[in-house]
Amino acid sequence: MCGIVGYVGNQPAAPLLLTGLASLEYRGYDSAGIALLDAEDRIVVWKAAGKLNSLVESMKAALPQGTVGIGHTRWATHGIPNDVNAHPHLDCSQKVVIVHNGIVENYQELKDELLGQGHRFNSETDSEVIVHLIESSLKSGAELTDAVGSAAVRLRGASAVVAMAVQEPNVIAAFRMGNAGGITIGYADEGMLVASDLPAVLPHTNRVVFLAPGELVRIDHNGASYRSVDGTPVHQEPHAIAIDPGAATKGEYEHFMLKEIMEQPEAVTRTIGGRVLFDPADVMLEGIGLTTEELAQVDRVVLIGMGTSWQAAQAGRYMMESLTGLPAEADNASEFRYRDALLGPRTLLVSVAQSGETADTLGAMEEAARRGVKQVTICNAEGSQATRIADGTVFIRVGPEISVASTKALTGSIVGLYLLAAYIGRERGVLEGGRLASALDDLVKIPRLMGEALEQREWIEELAGLYYKYDHFLFLGRGMTTSTAMEGALKLKEVSYIHAEGYAAGEMKHGPIALIDKSMPDVAIAPRNYLHGKMMNNIEEVRARGGTIIAVVTHGDETLRGKVDHIIEIPETPPLLTPAVAVVPLQLLAYYIALRRGCDVDHPRNLAKTVTVE
Ligand code: F6R
Repeated sequence: MCGIVGYVGNQPAAPLLLTGLASLEYRGYDSAGIALLDAEDRIVVWKAAGKLNSLVESMKAALPQGTVGIGHTRWATHGIPNDVNAHPHLDCSQKVVIVHNGIVENYQELKDELLGQGHRFNSETDSEVIVHLIESSLKSGAELTDAVGSAAVRLRGASAVVAMAVQEPNVIAAFRMGNAGGITIGYADEGMLVASDLPAVLPHTNRVVFLAPGELVRIDHNGASYRSVDGTPVHQEPHAIAIDPGAATKGEYEHFMLKEIMEQPEAVTRTIGGRVLFDPADVMLEGIGLTTEELAQVDRVVLIGMGTSWQAAQAGRYMMESLTGLPAEADNASEFRYRDALLGPRTLLVSVAQSGETADTLGAMEEAARRGVKQVTICNAEGSQATRIADGTVFIRVGPEISVASTKALTGSIVGLYLLAAYIGRERGVLEGGRLASALDDLVKIPRLMGEALEQREWIEELAGLYYKYDHFLFLGRGMTTSTAMEGALKLKEVSYIHAEGYAAGEMKHGPIALIDKSMPDVAIAPRNYLHGKMMNNIEEVRARGGTIIAVVTHGDETLRGKVDHIIEIPETPPLLTPAVAVVPLQLLAYYIALRRGCDVDHPRNLAKTVTVE
C-alpha cells in the first residue's frame, strides 16, 4: 500500500525521492506527491492523482533544488484519489508537512477537536489530522521530534508517518505505530533515507535499521537517533542487508510478473540452499526459535495467511499432516483473528506472510502471541513485523517480488513450508527409516521440475490467444491441488479482471455445475496421482454438459487426450510438492491472458502489494 520516502543529505532531493517512489510503485497506489524544503527554507509541495508520470509532468516547469524532502504514493482509504487528497499534507501555516501510511481510526474525533481550535482542513483524508496535531505542539514550543511523538500517541489504529518542518530545516522525524507497513532507515554516504520498504533504500545503501512499532526516529545529515514515541531512548545500530539491488530490475523481461515467474527455479533454489544434507539426510533451519523439547510438545498445527499466502498455507497443511504426523488446519488470517479460535499451549501457529507486514496476518499473529502460542513465520522480508512477533522465521530468500501479483513468493513459501514440515518431522522422530532422505530427495528435484513446467511458456501464450475473450473461468483441483486451483483463479482475476472461481473438484456437482457451458472454460488440474481417477470423473461430468476443458496433466499421460479441448503438460512431481509445479502454467496463463487484454500486468487496478489495512 502507500509508499513513503524521505531524504536529508547533500544531493538534490527531488530526483532521489521520485526514483525512490518509482521503486515502491509495486505496492499499489493511485496518487503521488513530494514536498521539499527550498533554498529559502520554505516547504514546496507537488502532488497529482494518477501514476508517478503525472507528478513528474506537473513538476517539469521548475524542478525544485532542495536537499531535504519527503515523498509518498497514496492508496486511497479516506477520500477519493485526487490531487487534494494526495500526500504530502501541510498544516495551516504551511510550515509542517507529513506523509502517512495507515488509518487514523479516531480521525473524526481529532478533526472535531482541531477544528474547534481553529485549524483549517484542505483534504478529505484522515491523515491530515496528524499534521495539524504536530502544528499545535510546535506552536506551544515543542521541538519537531517531541511534537511528532505527541501526535503519534494521540492516534488510534496503525500508522507510519514521516514529517518535516521549517522550524528544524534539516531534520526529518518518522514513527511507526502498529502494523501499517514498515519504516526503514538507510545510512548512505550521500545522506540519510527513510522509506517504507527496502527497494527505495538499497540503491543508496545496504546499511539499515527497521523501526519497531511504537518507535520514532529523528534523522539529519549526521545520522539518526531513536526513541519510543513516548520519549524513552531506544538503541539501534545499522546492520548490513544482503540483497542485490539488481534483483529489483526487469532485466530482459517486459514485466516483473513474467520475470518473477521465469526465475522461480532459481528463487526456490535459494529457499532450499544450505538447508538440506544427504549423507546422512538432514534438514537445517536456522532461526526456527523452537527447541526440540518445544516441538515435541506440539499437538496441532494451525497455518494462516491471506490471499496467495493463504493458498500456500493450505498446501502446507497437507505437508504438515504427512511429514509431522500432527493434525493441521489452514485458515484465512482475517477470519481466524476474529473467531474464538481454540488455541492450546501445545498448538503451533505457522503464518505465511511474504511481506511480513500484512495487517490481517499480523493481527492474527499478535492475538496468538497474546495467548502464549508458539509461532513460526514463513517470510521473505528481513526485519519485518511478522519476524518480530514469531518465535522463529523460515526466510524464503526469493529476492524482492515487485509485481503486485505474487508468484515466486508463493512457490518459495510452499518450499519453505515443506522444509519446516520436514524439520519438525525430523525433530519429532517421525521421519525414520529413510523417510527424511526420501522427502528431501523429492524437494531438491523441485527447481528442475519447475524449469520443465516453464518450457510450456510458448504453448501457454498460444492458448491465451484462444481464451482471452472469455469472461468467466472455473479452476478445479483435488487434494493437494485444490489450493492450486484457487491460486489459478486468483491470479487470473487479479491481473486480467476476468471472473474466475477455484474449487475442489468434488464440490463442483454441489452447485457450480449449474454454470457449466461452452462460455466458461474449465481448467482442470489432473496430475497422475492417487486422485487421478476421481478427477477424470469430474472432467467427464464437465464434458457431458458441453463444458470447454483445459487439463493440466502429467507429461506422458495420454488418458485425457481427445477428451478435453487442450492439454498443458507438467512433469511428474512428488505429490506433496505438486502445488509448486502445477501452479507455474496457471501463472503463465494469467499473465498472457492479461497481456492480450491490454491490462497493466504489474500494477493491477485496486490492488496493493502489501495490504497494511484490515
Ligand atoms: C496475490 C497477492 C496477495 C498476497 C496477500 C498476502 O497475488 O499478492 O494475495 O499474497 O496480500 O501477502 P503477504 O504474503 O505479504 O502477507
